[in-house]
Amino acid sequence: MLTDELRAEVARLKAERDAVVLAHYYVPPEVQELADHVGDSFALAKLAATLTCRTLVFAGVSFMAESAKLLSPEKTVLMPEPTADCPMAHMVRRETVDAARERYGDELAVACYVNSTVEVKSWSDVCVTSSNAVKIVRALPQVNVLFVPDRHLGSFVAEQVPEKNVILNDGFCPIHQDISADEVRALKEAHPGAPVLAHPECGPEAMALADFAGSTSQIIEVAVAGEALDYIILTVDGVRGELERRCGGTGKRFHFPPTRPVCPDMARITVERLVACLREGTGAVDLPPAAVAEGARRTLTRMLELGA
Ligand code: 13P
Ligand code: SF4
Repeated sequence: MLTDELRAEVARLKAERDAVVLAHYYVPPEVQELADHVGDSFALAKLAATLTCRTLVFAGVSFMAESAKLLSPEKTVLMPEPTADCPMAHMVRRETVDAARERYGDELAVACYVNSTVEVKSWSDVCVTSSNAVKIVRALPQVNVLFVPDRHLGSFVAEQVPEKNVILNDGFCPIHQDISADEVRALKEAHPGAPVLAHPECGPEAMALADFAGSTSQIIEVAVAGEALDYIILTVDGVRGELERRCGGTGKRFHFPPTRPVCPDMARITVERLVACLREGTGAVDLPPAAVAEGARRTLTRMLELGA
């Protein structure tokens, strides 16, 4: 429970630093409550590029805060928990990209999921998020597209854009990949007719049982707009708060896998760490060396142009 004193203290610290707090839907609910904006990766990256405050506090994992810093280098970007990282962001090797470029030359585009390190972004031609990957890959002039790091989002894109030769890489999100088809079947049996809304980082067996696949925000929008009362939600439990807030009074119910998927890195972003970060100004994100920053910024900017 957040006390009035704590809320007032956060407001005072934010004003002192001219800070805006951005939070991803996967961080704990009380951190989301203290944030100025809560969103999916794409919405938060877009916002970071347009806000005029002096400081951004990013309650999310490192690739999110790094993207904000690249798109808004003049701002101080702080992470309440600087070691919060997405394991998938590292699951691609330079050799994989080089080998594809060697094989296809100018007829290849490298599309990197925003869940990637700054280096991976700098090796790529365009960045995508789960909310715009299909649209962006479809719009690329090249037929051959190396998709890194996530093989599951890559497979989903390949299915949606059959006119492209989407080349997959072996990365994955351990949390979404762990949602099993058996769990989903049991949920469907318990809630017959409930639409299954999945994040495309889920594995192929779970995805085959989904009625809709999209980013965290898109899942929330579909559930808010839907006419059904029960929904099966295949993503991290953190989206529950926003679903319940937006659907309050409608009688809608949201059913998550019984293992209650939690992203352990996002879970480490606590209220205490957020307050300490605002108070001490710790966890500043540095820009990488100029050549890397320039390459990574180019892929992110191209995403903002193509994926708006
Ligand atoms: P969204 O882009 O849907 O917010 O997802 C980010 C993420 O890390 C999913 O695991
Ligand atoms: Fe990374 Fe998975 Fe956590 Fe998303 S849920 S940040 S992909 S580990």
